[in-house]
Amino acid sequence: MIQRPRRLRTTAAMRKLVRETRPAASQLVLPAFVGEASADISSMPGVKRHTPESIGAVARAARDAGLGGIMLFGVPDDKDKDAHGTQAWAADGIEQRAIAACREAVGDDLVIMSDVCLDEFTSHGHCGFLGEDGRVLNDETCEAYARQAVAQARAGAHVVAPSGMMDGQVGAIRVGLDAEGFSDVAILAYSAKYASAFYGPFREAVGSSLQGDRRTYQQDPANRREGLREALLDMAEGADMVMVKPASHYLDVLADVAAASDVPVAAYQVSGEYAMIEAAAGRGWINRQAAIEESVTSIVRAGADLVLTYWAMEVARWLN
Ligand code: PBG
Repeated sequence: MIQRPRRLRTTAAMRKLVRETRPAASQLVLPAFVGEASADISSMPGVKRHTPESIGAVARAARDAGLGGIMLFGVPDDKDKDAHGTQAWAADGIEQRAIAACREAVGDDLVIMSDVCLDEFTSHGHCGFLGEDGRVLNDETCEAYARQAVAQARAGAHVVAPSGMMDGQVGAIRVGLDAEGFSDVAILAYSAKYASAFYGPFREAVGSSLQGDRRTYQQDPANRREGLREALLDMAEGADMVMVKPASHYLDVLADVAAASDVPVAAYQVSGEYAMIEAAAGRGWINRQAAIEESVTSIVRAGADLVLTYWAMEVARWLN
């Protein structure tokens, strides 16, 4: 026998030498929730809702840990929600205050990213305006996203990240940003975003008001080819980076997009992926650190240049 692949697995030093995938802290992005009051999130043990007063320290810690960025989600009080989600573009809206606090804390030393979507801000919890028949209106919603992105850019976001899955949202946001002088603000498009059961804990984290589901705008989990189509459309509209979400159950889509993309590709390890590993580890059923490291490594192996993960701080510590 000449071919013995086990030769390259004989020692830890040998395995380290020939390792194909080497996740780095600089490619990790920490998603963070910011509300009017801090709160624990029962379905995401270890993740907190921060406030505009406390989020600056989180951004500084992320910078100090060598992370690539922070992705902010604003969580308004229920009394501040309305049918159109108008707080999403108010200058003093929760998301804008969170962005400004981070920018003040870290300047340009950490990439500050901001979710562009109305679901946290609407009383009905959908990602856009509702028509008479209860369906989510596409083009009107894109105009609102452009307004929201401009407000976020004005507050200091380096990157805006549309996650609502409206057709044409990237192009509308690009036009809106450029018209207001924000041509250097980048767009990270949630391109292939599936209608996933794994967003469950996130909905608790943002106090979602949603009844029903998002299946008329988010993608059908059964569709692989369509994920690539969505990413190519977003690139054509001017996306600076594209994303696949969730990550772990969609590694095929991620690999397809990574193979075809000429812009950086992100993957979002979502709340349900986090909760599953934490729950199993909490019962002693799996080795927590090993499972987390394996999950993040697999996402990078499939082709992600950036990984959004709630474990970003901890993984960065292990990597350093
Ligand atoms: C929508 C948005 C969602 C997530 C990120 N952006 C929720 C949804 O589409 O219902 C989910 C992230 C996660 O589960 O960690 N603004």
